[in-house]
Amino acid sequence: MEGPITLELNGLHKRYDETLALDGCSFAVPQGRMLGFLGPNGAGKTTAMRCIFGLTRPDAGSVRWRGRAIERAQKRRFGYMPEQRGLYPRMQVLDQLTYFGGLHGLDRHAARSSAARWLDRLGLGDRAQSRLEDLSHGNQQRVQLVNALLHEPELLVLDEPFTGLDPLAVQTLGEVVTEQAAAAPPSCSPAITSTSSKASARTS
Ligand SMILES: Nc1ncnc2c1ncn2[C@@H]1O[C@H](COP(=O)(O)OP(=O)(O)OP(=O)(O)O)[C@@H](O)[C@H]1O
Ligand SMILES: [Mg+2]
Repeated sequence: MEGPITLELNGLHKRYDETLALDGCSFAVPQGRMLGFLGPNGAGKTTAMRCIFGLTRPDAGSVRWRGRAIERAQKRRFGYMPEQRGLYPRMQVLDQLTYFGGLHGLDRHAARSSAARWLDRLGLGDRAQSRLEDLSHGNQQRVQLVNALLHEPELLVLDEPFTGLDPLAVQTLGEVVTEQAAAAPPSCSPAITSTSSKASARTS
């Protein structure tokens, strides 16, 4: 049986001059469901995800979480790995994850220990003290994933998360996302992944 609807996008429209980026984008995600968001380059996937976080304002339509408009406090309980990765290149990995965990409402100790746990899980336990820019591209990607996961988000939105990952990391990410969705009751909820490649798309 499907759980209650959590995330709901309803009739989103967005135009940039001549470009119609979203033309009535609608979907609803039941609790505990993992949703793969597929479409060719330029289809509007990132635009739709940005609308969830209020980073892009749709011309029409609505985004709701458990039936309500999404306020700032609720957004802090979401995890987002944006297409334009947004971490600080010169800052140490664990320090910046601790900082970002704080922005999501974790105290320093909780943020640090959660970040350390996730770094271990993703095979980066020995790089916690490295500056981000000293890591390989794929390992920087893993840090971005930790950043999206460390506060146990109620909604996890990953935009092209498989890009640049080696097969082992792809497998680990698949396991992690599946676990996150399965942990739905009582706190965690759907995970969304975006990809242009059917080969790496997953749904449950
Ligand atoms: N800020 C912007 N200004 C102008 N056009 C934009 C802007 N953001 C997106 N677009 C356009 O909207 C359309 C949808 O872009 P979007 O990035 O959402 O696609 P996507 O499905 O995520 O593509 P990709 O698979 O390449 O990541 C594209 O034609 C893009 O050029
Ligand atoms: Mg995109």
